[in-house]
Amino acid sequence: MLAIIGGSGLTQLASLDLIRREVVRTPYGEPSGALTFGRLCGRPVVFLARHGYGHTIPPHRVNYQANLWALHQAKADAIISVASVGGIRADLCPGTLIVPDQIIDYTWGRKSTFHDSSDEPVVHIDFTEPYDAALRRRILAAAAAASETIVDGAVYAATQGPRLETAAEINRLERDGADVVGMTGMPEAALARELGIPYAAINVVANFAAGRASSANGICFDSIDVVLREAMRRVRQVLDHICEA
Ligand code: HPA
Repeated sequence: MLAIIGGSGLTQLASLDLIRREVVRTPYGEPSGALTFGRLCGRPVVFLARHGYGHTIPPHRVNYQANLWALHQAKADAIISVASVGGIRADLCPGTLIVPDQIIDYTWGRKSTFHDSSDEPVVHIDFTEPYDAALRRRILAAAAAASETIVDGAVYAATQGPRLETAAEINRLERDGADVVGMTGMPEAALARELGIPYAAINVVANFAAGRASSANGICFDSIDVVLREAMRRVRQVLDHICEA
């Protein structure tokens, strides 16, 4: 069953035929909310709103371990993460959809592994390619089928938040090779890999990153809402086509 983790601007899926909501407990605590089981274009899917259904959980407080464990318990065999980002690369302007292919992790203090005990042998996962190649291709093919433009490949910088970055931090991220910046991509991707669940992301550029283009003098939150509302409509089209394929 496909799992979808929705971020800012995607707290529900309009075309989901709801079957049931399930409050799940995990050894890692409570997920961000109940799991929503339903059908999207006839296919079973499970949906989880990363920031909670009322959008109240900030990025650094999301219980990523519980979220991933809950989806694992629900027998998710693929996870598509939808997350808004700031565009660093000049061509990644607000409204652009992206399937990122790499990650740089700047987060700190988050519970970033299921293998945290000194009672078991040390576990290292291979994370050379943080996103699942086949699932990325599935998203790109669905976007093509839906006639939605989507950028294939970008380096995602995961920052701690919840504050946005300074202009100098964005310059540094660019020098490091990052194309977009968000706050929730890690440790989500690594935890999915630890559980062996194929994971890929659709990033939605909500704004130019701090200090860039229309964000040269600050980030305008009102326009973020407008951009996300329109862009999430296109994301839903892509998700529908993933399920139709
Ligand atoms: N920075 C970090 N995370 C974000 C941004 C940003 O500019 N926009 C949306 N999520």
